[in-house]
Amino acid sequence: MPAFEFRQAAILPARPRPIVSIGLGGIVHDAHYPAYRLAGFDVVGGFDINGERAAMMADKFDIPRLYGSLSEAIQGAPADAVFDIAVPGGAIADILREIPAGRAALIQKPMGEDLAEARGILDICRERELLAAINFQLRFAPFVIAARDMIEQGLLGELYDVEFRVQCNTPWHLWPFLFPLPRCEILYHSIHYVDLIRSFCGNPQSVYARTISHPSAPDLRGGARSMIIMDYGENPRVNVMTNHSHAYGGEKHQSYVKFEGSNGAIQIRAGLNMNYPDGVPDRFEYILPGEGGAPGWQTLDIKGSWFPEAFIGTMASLMRYADGETASLPTSVEDAILTMATVEAAYASSQQGGTPLPQV
Ligand SMILES: NC(=O)c1ccc[n+]([C@@H]2O[C@H](COP(=O)([O-])OP(=O)(O)OC[C@H]3O[C@@H](n4cnc5c(N)ncnc54)[C@H](O)[C@@H]3O)[C@@H](O)[C@H]2O)c1
Repeated sequence: MPAFEFRQAAILPARPRPIVSIGLGGIVHDAHYPAYRLAGFDVVGGFDINGERAAMMADKFDIPRLYGSLSEAIQGAPADAVFDIAVPGGAIADILREIPAGRAALIQKPMGEDLAEARGILDICRERELLAAINFQLRFAPFVIAARDMIEQGLLGELYDVEFRVQCNTPWHLWPFLFPLPRCEILYHSIHYVDLIRSFCGNPQSVYARTISHPSAPDLRGGARSMIIMDYGENPRVNVMTNHSHAYGGEKHQSYVKFEGSNGAIQIRAGLNMNYPDGVPDRFEYILPGEGGAPGWQTLDIKGSWFPEAFIGTMASLMRYADGETASLPTSVEDAILTMATVEAAYASSQQGGTPLPQV
């Protein structure tokens, strides 16, 4: 029996639009620009409030034009440019208010620091009729595209169980802006998994969660580890478990997403978390006992990874949507706010606490 073949790559736009960056920090360096190079997307200009940082990035990635201010960037951008906004969540709304009506913007997650800010961002996008999407790029990681193809073909049958588990040693010091924030782990990290799960399972009925700090990261006041149950009733059972402070070597590091159905299962190691941002190799394993294929778990060869290939997908999908090549914009602000609502429910649950033990 021939090996299964599944889609792994995002669909590219017929006519890529020029890109203007707002914010030229770590994620643009590590993932946005490497992805755009692979895809052949043109970055025509950029702006960062930190001039030195901007100059370094222009030098390294040959950005043809640096702007001295946000308004200069907006005035100077070609009319069909996509504004690629990659700044901390709290800075997004002020930037969007400056963008003229009808323009295209890809906005780094999270969509503001909480649901109230997300609503504000959605209102601005609606008022200005922006073509706006949140950069929930994990949905476009090659291993996720393959899993989605498999699941949409019905090969797993009914989806019973979805789990994202992370046990690693995350270099939080890369994001100094996170330390004073009241919300950290779920809002800035597990949000990827919450969003990914929503993209497969829809909105949960409710959320149970607990997010807490870690003794080794007491300055990270917004939490460094989380347990999230996304409640879909009897099926599927869904949870996200993260411990970013496993300090006992890479041997027991884990970072996987598992999809288990009535006819088969997929388990994917997302190696990025295990040595961020360089990662370790991913591993895509699946088992389809009813399909007459080879028995036992099989490995699917996947080309590309979360960093940087997934970042092609979010940008490509917005460019295609903006040019009318597709009617769907999977990570639109209209959809992303529901991920923010799920995250909000997780924080509310965490604050509320569990059921105390009854008297005995
Ligand atoms: N996989 C992912 O999707 C992923 C990974 C890492 C970070 N991020 C997100 O990207 C955003 C930026 O993270 P980072 O790691 O690049 O942080 P960073 O601190 O390295 O970079 C942020 C940059 O934005 C600039 N900046 C801040 N406010 C600005 C403004 N108003 N206008 C222009 N520039 C401004 C800063 O000077 C800095 O250079 C965060 O919201 C984070 O959640 C996403």
